[in-house]
Parts: sequence; structure tokens; C-alpha cells
Amino acid sequence: MPLLAFETSCDETGAAVVDDDKVLSNVVSSQIVLHAEYGGVVPELAAREHLRNLLPVAQLALREAGISTQSLDGVCATQGPGLPSALMIGMKAAQALAFALERPFLGVHHHEAHLYSPWISGSPPVADFSRFQPNVSLIVSGGHTMLVHVLDELRTQVLGATLDDAAGECFDKIGKLVGLPYPAGAAIDRLARDGNPAAFSFPRPLINQPDHDFSFSGLKTSVRYFLRDRPGILNDWQSIRDLCASAQAAIVEVLVTKTVRAARTAGVRCITASGGVACNSALRAQLLTACTGAGISLRVADASFCTDNAAMIGILASRRLRLSAQMSSLDADIQPGWILGGTVNN
Ligand code: KG4
Ligand code: ZN
Repeated sequence: MPLLAFETSCDETGAAVVDDDKVLSNVVSSQIVLHAEYGGVVPELAAREHLRNLLPVAQLALREAGISTQSLDGVCATQGPGLPSALMIGMKAAQALAFALERPFLGVHHHEAHLYSPWISGSPPVADFSRFQPNVSLIVSGGHTMLVHVLDELRTQVLGATLDDAAGECFDKIGKLVGLPYPAGAAIDRLARDGNPAAFSFPRPLINQPDHDFSFSGLKTSVRYFLRDRPGILNDWQSIRDLCASAQAAIVEVLVTKTVRAARTAGVRCITASGGVACNSALRAQLLTACTGAGISLRVADASFCTDNAAMIGILASRRLRLSAQMSSLDADIQPGWILGGTVNN
């Protein structure tokens, strides 16, 4: 059952072809260079780029999969949440194609699709997804930081989320203070490898709170005040590495502690993680250590499926079409503020 999937919720234009639980192609065109100049994603520029790139990206995905549009059994796209003008491009293109081909269309939830990205590659395969439920999933990127209890494939419950900045946003803002280009997470990760994580002490916001929410804006502010009081730090590369390692250690400790606590509270034996920040080497290593110590299995998405991609959209849609025969209307609207688990009028 080959499906064509589009993802345009933020700054990656993605198209993928999936066939049941297999990803036949997954093409992503990133707009990072375009937005770097502005220090963050500019919604109207993102939409214009999606418009320019979606067709070539889709054609490449079809060519790589060796599939013609006529052999597709359906078309799907991210319906929300995301930037309204960006979502509109992928969703309306998918609906128009489904209409022209007389095939079903399914609009899917971006965060729900992230729950599948750890299972796209590796073993056991996504076909065994149900064996690993319930689990607790950490979705951590520049736009979101949340913990989700996956009860079964059709039922999820958000346990907690950030009250202000996402963890990736915190990496990016600290990077800006240090003088690194946007997005700064990967550069901080690299610099931190040769830095001392105990060199400077930064707060671990909400780490001792029993709830599952996060807050990262205070941490970024404390780095700003730290640099205001010690501007000389930025003149020396080793101090910059130590600063990156120390700030990263604070973010990672909060994420790991709260994720493992949430899994324990929910009584689950499996943790998964995805989203751009889940590429972070310290986060991956420390999650593994904590999970091993707690007797919990860990499944982190492959780096290529951590960041936004259409393969996860296609895998979710494919399973939904098979499990619940769910379809969306060809004139369903985008849902920029769609809350995971919330109903949507399709
Ligand atoms: O999932 P993603 O591509 O897009 C959304 O934000 O939805 O995630 C991008 C975020 C950026 O904030 C970036 O700085 C962060 O992920 N990131 C990292 C790493 N690689 C990307 N943060 C920490 N360590 C990394 N290795
Ligand atoms: Zn995402």
C-alpha cells in the first residue's frame, strides 16, 4: 500500500514514500541556511521555500522509491501543529494530489508522528511497535519539548511539556550568546566534547518537581548574566568549550532525570526519544546509562529520523489507514494549534 507523505510544519520540506511499514524513500530539503541569517525561522520565508521546493522534493522521493503517482494508494501530510503558512503548503498540495488521483487523504499530527520515528530504522522494526507499549516518549526539538505516555497505538497522553522555551531553543539561544550561528545545538554538542561539564554551575530548572513539565528560559537567562559578569570567557576557546559543556550538562540532566522519572511514575519499561535535540551525544549517552540502571529499554531515533521528516508522517498514516481505516476530508483545514490527543474536525 504505497503512500506519498509530505511534511512542511516548520523549516524542513520533506517528502517520503512508504509501503506499509517500509520507508522506500525519504527526502528532506532543509532551509537552515536561509533562516540562519535571521537567527530563527521566519514563517513567511519558510512558506515560500516550501512552495518552491515541495514539487522537486516529491518528484525525487517518487523517483527514489521507483513509484509513479498512479501506483499510490493514498497521500498524507502533516495537518498540525506548526506554522500556519508552512503547514498550508504541504497539506493543500497533498489534498489536491489525492483529489486528482482519486485516492484517500490523511492529515496527521506532527507530534504523534514523532512517536514513530525511533522505530523507523533498527530492530525490532516498526511492525512490532505494539509490543513496546506502553512507553514514555521524549519529543525534544527546537519547537517542542514534551513527555508522552503512549498507552497503545491509538491512545496517547501528554504527561508534561515545556512551560516556556523548548530545549532546542535553549541550545540555540545560548549558542547566540556565545556567538555561534543558528541553529547552535550541534555546534554546542561538538564543542562540549572537549569541555568540562563541571566547570561552571548552571541551574537545573524544575528538576526536583514531581510533575513532568520543563522550563528552559531561566537557564538561558542565567548564561546571559554569567557572560555579562565574565565577558572574558568568550576570548578563550577552552573557556567556551567549558561553558558549552556546563550549559549542555544542565539541559541534559533535566531531560534525563525527568524522562526516567516519568517512565517510573507511569510504570512503563520502555523509553523512546526523537526530535533534533535527541541527536545530542551527551543526551543519548546519559539516557542509555540511566535507562540501563533503571532496567528500562531505550529506543532513540536514528539521527536521520530525529529531525523533521516525512517518513514518520507516512508511517503513522499507513498504520492509521490499516488499523482504523481513518481518512480525512479533502477540504479539512490545517490545525496549527492541534494538541496531541485533542480531537480535530476532519
Ligand atoms: O527537530 P528539529 O530539526 O526541528 C524542530 O525544531 O522542530 O530540531 C532542531 C533543533 C534545533 O534547536 C537544534 O539546535 C537542535 O535541534 N539540535 C541539537 C543537536 N542537533 C540539533 N541540539 C543539541 N545537540 C545536537 N546535536
Ligand atoms: Zn518536529
